[in-house]
Amino acid sequence: MFHQGVIVTILGRESLWTFSVPQDHCKGQAHYSTTVVMLWLLWWGLPSSLWGLESMGSERLCSHCILMGLLRCLPSILFLFSFSLFCLFSESSSSTSGSDSESDEKRPVFSNEFKQDSLVEGTSSRYSMYNSVSQKLMAKMGFREGEGLGKYGQGRKDIVEASNQKGRRGFGLTLKGFDGELNIDWQDEPEPSAYEKVDWCPECTTEIPDAQELKEWMTVGKRKLVIEDETEFCNEELLHNVLQCKSVFDELDGEEMRRARTRSNPYEMIRGAFFLNRAAMKMANMDHVFDYMFTNPKDCHGVPLIKEYDAELLYFADVCAGPGGFSEYVLWRRKWHAKGFGMTLKGPNDFKLEDFYSASSELFEPYYGEGGIDGDGDITRSENITAFQNFVLDNTDHKGVHFLMADGGFSVEGQENLQEILSKQLMLCQFLTALSIVRTGGHFVCKTFDLFTPFSVGLVYLLYCCFERICIFKPVTSRPANSERYVVCKGLKSGIEDVRSYLFTVNIRLNQLRNSDVDVNLIVPLKVIKDNQDFYNYIVQSNENLLSFFRTLVEPRQAEIRKECLQLWGIPDQARVAPSSSDPKSKFFELIQGTDIDTFSYKPTLLNSSTLEKIRQVLDFRCMVSGSEQKFLLGLGKSQIYTWGGRQSDRWTKLDLKTELPRDTLLSVEIVHELKGEGKAQRKISAIHILDALVLNGNDVRTQHFNQRIRLAEKFVKAVSKPSRPDMNPIRVKEVYRLEEMDKIFVRLEMKVIKSSGGMPRLSYTGRDDRHFVPTGLYIVRTMNDPWTMAYSKNFKKKFFFNKMTNVATYNLLPEAIAPFHICHYSRLFWEWGEGVKVHDSQKRQDPEKLSKETVLSFIQLSPWPCQRLPYPEEDGKSLASCGQKLHVLVSVSNTSVYQGTHLATGNSFVMVPRWTKANAGDEYSSWHRSDMLTPLQAAVTRISPFQVSD
Ligand SMILES: C[S@@+](CC[C@H](N)C(=O)[O-])C[C@H]1O[C@@H](n2cnc3c(N)ncnc32)[C@H](O)[C@@H]1O
Repeated sequence: MFHQGVIVTILGRESLWTFSVPQDHCKGQAHYSTTVVMLWLLWWGLPSSLWGLESMGSERLCSHCILMGLLRCLPSILFLFSFSLFCLFSESSSSTSGSDSESDEKRPVFSNEFKQDSLVEGTSSRYSMYNSVSQKLMAKMGFREGEGLGKYGQGRKDIVEASNQKGRRGFGLTLKGFDGELNIDWQDEPEPSAYEKVDWCPECTTEIPDAQELKEWMTVGKRKLVIEDETEFCNEELLHNVLQCKSVFDELDGEEMRRARTRSNPYEMIRGAFFLNRAAMKMANMDHVFDYMFTNPKDCHGVPLIKEYDAELLYFADVCAGPGGFSEYVLWRRKWHAKGFGMTLKGPNDFKLEDFYSASSELFEPYYGEGGIDGDGDITRSENITAFQNFVLDNTDHKGVHFLMADGGFSVEGQENLQEILSKQLMLCQFLTALSIVRTGGHFVCKTFDLFTPFSVGLVYLLYCCFERICIFKPVTSRPANSERYVVCKGLKSGIEDVRSYLFTVNIRLNQLRNSDVDVNLIVPLKVIKDNQDFYNYIVQSNENLLSFFRTLVEPRQAEIRKECLQLWGIPDQARVAPSSSDPKSKFFELIQGTDIDTFSYKPTLLNSSTLEKIRQVLDFRCMVSGSEQKFLLGLGKSQIYTWGGRQSDRWTKLDLKTELPRDTLLSVEIVHELKGEGKAQRKISAIHILDALVLNGNDVRTQHFNQRIRLAEKFVKAVSKPSRPDMNPIRVKEVYRLEEMDKIFVRLEMKVIKSSGGMPRLSYTGRDDRHFVPTGLYIVRTMNDPWTMAYSKNFKKKFFFNKMTNVATYNLLPEAIAPFHICHYSRLFWEWGEGVKVHDSQKRQDPEKLSKETVLSFIQLSPWPCQRLPYPEEDGKSLASCGQKLHVLVSVSNTSVYQGTHLATGNSFVMVPRWTKANAGDEYSSWHRSDMLTPLQAAVTRISPFQVSD
């Protein structure tokens, strides 16, 4: 039996040998004397040596001190030296060990006769790798190969290996997976490259299965938790090799696994660039490889479906998506022209919107299924899928999203080989969500794992039937050694409703069978899958290609490949930095880029009988009902929102409302008290009403036409609105009316009892969202830049733009004809609806000094629309020349008089010479008009060669 004793550890080359010396069996033994000697050495020699040295240091250094110190150390040095010699060369002491029966019982170390040869000389010995000193010391202490430690040799026989321990793996653990030989052909490994090839599955030519057919397809059977026999869609030998390799991962410690893949994956260094995680880069990678079909979807002619200056947003959804790297990438790429909806499991892996450094998370709205923001986000619950579907459809005009990304996964540590089986319901629910919320023609990308089981392959088969094209793709950003891959689906077909309902039913069944030993094993009969040769071959091929994932142990080109990839995918190689915070004043100056600050203090011209004439050019104006005072609003991101009155003396003050806006946003607004309902049940809420937009999430729109600014503001509001958050203050864009249609406004005016008005009905304007507010007047905004105005062509029954100075007329809106923000702001008029202004029939009092509805309406209706007689050349003469495909050069001739003009023969644009001008013989016409007026036609004009007017 071993007692607590002296433990001596001898370090060999790579191993250590540990044994114990029992204290009460040491008497009379050479080893015991060794121990005593060592203790003496420690007790006497060492302190005396130290004392000797200390005395040298503590006193002033003199030759006497040094000598005294050395003399004091001398006994220790001599003893140490002789002890070493004794250990190395004394053989006799060891031969005495354990020779008698008594000492046999009490032997300190090993009872058997010591065969030193076995340790020292025998090259065949397992211990020959230890140096001779180690071997001798071990031998001296009684170690003999093949014999155990302990009094009766009952202890361990083998040397304890030096620590090869990796991470937190158990001491001395060997990994099963590393023992066997792997039958892998390492030769076929492709050279790492940034360029990836897409291999689409051939188009599905069979009909989408209908409810009648589908109802026979589901097979329930014994729950299956083995993958080894799933060889329907993969070569058996290959599958087994891979499973064997992957078993190694089951055994590997997390840290070991991480280190190995970091070293071996050529694409490992790409990481997340400036995004919040690596997942974002997978989306960037796939978006590029699939020709930006997600962030820039195109129609069948290759024309982008969503243009930045169009009113439509790019709608997307991201499910099983926390923390949200995919969405951060999409929003970074599309800025505020996109709006995302997300659902993911609540908990530690929830969305981390505050970590979207490169994009505005205000454009993303998480919704957790049943219960909205209070839901649990579990996609496997049918109620959540339905709730999410309703939410998305309600907020996309019932069209659905342009694309859905799904990246569901959970830890399968220790069961890597079963990942496909364990994730089957998650996969089904993600596919079901796609069929529920993707619009016809839209796209879908979803993470899958191995596709060996008929259940998973059946699911992919249904996608194959429902989408125009599908592809199984493993991006280079997905680690080669895991079974992750993505199914990329292009163009959802119409008529998929039965498949959707079928998957919905399967999910209900899966939930019913949870925790039982039966399961849904098939959703598409094997025969159906196998009969479709194209699909079947594609799946087998894809499985077999993806199984050859092994790579060389160390990939030296990681940095180079990272650079290549980022460049190819259009991702700047920048560090991830949190956006800096700035104060509103400096941000405002940064956004307005040197514009004269006085521009912002302009007050509107009041509309009265003397200023009415200003709106004579009726077509040039737009109007909006006001409900409060105009201010400027600056969004610095999230709820960091400030307002400012516009005068230099005014301060930026924090907006006391619950709302969020993307950073770098500058708007002209009113904060209006909106009301809902009447009487006691009436509810009041403060809303932001946008009058005009200057900068939208960093996008300066001030030079755009007023109509376009309003259109962009509407799009922006749609992108930032949070319908799932009724607790937040709404943001709306004012309804804008044409001045000539002002009568439409009066239809929306009513007299209503307002809570605070003491029972007196007050004038109330009801907007399109069923909210009403007390109007304070009407803003009238001039949208044309002087001397341009809008006119109406009676001949063509069309409005056109006309320059009052040059008489140039055009259907195309030329940049100089557009009134930028500051002109609109400066020249706006305000018709105040205060006391004595009658704008509703039930209002009794009318101040004759003030403008009433009738006066203004009749002024507008009686104002003739500026009509210009378009001097159409054919009326005056005949066409003499025709140049270019589109542009006809028309010259009118009467005797020696030549008149010139141009007319665009096709399309609805034309440019003409304002007056027919007399040309004299010999005049050379190489330039027809100011080129800036001909911008749309310049290409055509340059094709006209100069010609001479002849007699
Ligand atoms: C790999 S992560 C997604 C990463 C994400 N694409 C990104 O870009 O950051 C997998 C996500 O699936 C989620 N998930 C797993 N099971 C889920 C379930 N039943 N319902 C919803 N989400 C689930 C996890 O919570 C996790 O957030």
